[in-house]
Amino acid sequence: MATPRYTGKIEWPTTIQLGKGLEGAITGETQIGYVDGDKGWLVYRGYNIFDLAEHSDFEETTYLLIFGKLPTKKELDDFKKKLAGYREVPAEVIDTLKRIPRDVHPMAALRTGVSVLGCLDPDADDTSVEGETEIGIKLTAQMATIAGAIARIRNKKEPIKPDRSLDHSANFLYMMTGEKPDDFSTKVMDVSLILHADHGMNASTFTTMVTNSSLSDMYSSVCAGICSLKGPLHGGANERALADMMAIKDEAGAVTYVKDCIDKKKKIMGFGHRVYKAYDPRAKVLGQYSEKVTEMKKMGHLYKIAKKVEEEVIKAYGERGIFPNVDFYSGTIYYAMGIEIPMFTPIFAVSRVAGWAARVLEYLPQNRIFRPRAVYVGPLEQKYVPMDKR
Ligand code: CMC
Repeated sequence: MATPRYTGKIEWPTTIQLGKGLEGAITGETQIGYVDGDKGWLVYRGYNIFDLAEHSDFEETTYLLIFGKLPTKKELDDFKKKLAGYREVPAEVIDTLKRIPRDVHPMAALRTGVSVLGCLDPDADDTSVEGETEIGIKLTAQMATIAGAIARIRNKKEPIKPDRSLDHSANFLYMMTGEKPDDFSTKVMDVSLILHADHGMNASTFTTMVTNSSLSDMYSSVCAGICSLKGPLHGGANERALADMMAIKDEAGAVTYVKDCIDKKKKIMGFGHRVYKAYDPRAKVLGQYSEKVTEMKKMGHLYKIAKKVEEEVIKAYGERGIFPNVDFYSGTIYYAMGIEIPMFTPIFAVSRVAGWAARVLEYLPQNRIFRPRAVYVGPLEQKYVPMDKR
């Protein structure tokens, strides 16, 4: 079998073929995760994402990403206890979330909440590996609490205190909705958080790493990651994709929608990927869950419309390697579970913080500041013109 691309040791300096948007660039070696875009593979620490989605839970996957191995029973119990113990956030964070405009985008609110959290942590500037590990774990616990509070405040409801007796995903759903979820809903959220936890050197992970490479601090780095994830070409695509699906009435409408996008050369949200030129494995799993959840919640039409859109896009663009990505079906699932659309990208962040932390922690001991160059194409010998002569 041919060696998969982007594997093996790097000899620095190395030669690569670079495309626009840093396509083909490499930041270094990693043992955290691997995406094979030609085969549609995603592995975390060597474990296939399909296995993890079926058998693991978010806490165990986070442990795996950060510490590099599957935990023993005791290690997992202790880790779960630690995460649960960190869930509560200082009252000042909740107060701040209540003071900003209620209708602000939840990703802006999340960025603000994490920033306030950092201001209140006396250990925020501990940039040792041990210090940043602890903050990475704290943030994994607390971002779910902040997102839960944002979901409530937006709807004029009082935030709910975390419930330590619940696992991470169940507690997260509880803090958003105010209702203790059933086992299936918890499993669905767990699977979604597992699938979104890490994904190579995507924009937000790179942003987080670039920020941390100046030896800034974990809170600042994660804030930067949230800012990057917010955009519609990255995490924000899940909201746009669902909004588009909601505007389609039936399968005939799905055909018209895709044709219209093609005619107008409009990008179809939830499709395409810089790395995957095969079907995104995360979309495979989420598509299956979407079918089940929408049927259970009597919203089967939503899945049917999405499936029709998928078929039409693949018919038109499949040969060019454009397939559904992780953001296509996730929205149909969250919507069917009663979660409002603006909360979709914060859910992505609540998961991806595990990957951001793991990547930062891996790079820290061998840190070298990221500092690429741009090629200057402007003039070089302009003469300064005094104000009265312009
Ligand atoms: N719909 C229609 N055409 C597309 C799409 C799409 N969703 N994605 C790519 N293309 C076309 C694009 O128009 C371009 O065509 P041409 O060569 O004729 O100009 C070609 O494919 C290459 O596109 P690109 O934008 O240069 O590709 P990229 O590698 O820079 O972008 C992407 C990757 C994800 C930003 C892009 O596919 C896209 O904008 N997709 C829609 C937004 C989306 O779903 N984002 C979520 C990404 S996955 C999860 C995440 O990161 O959050």
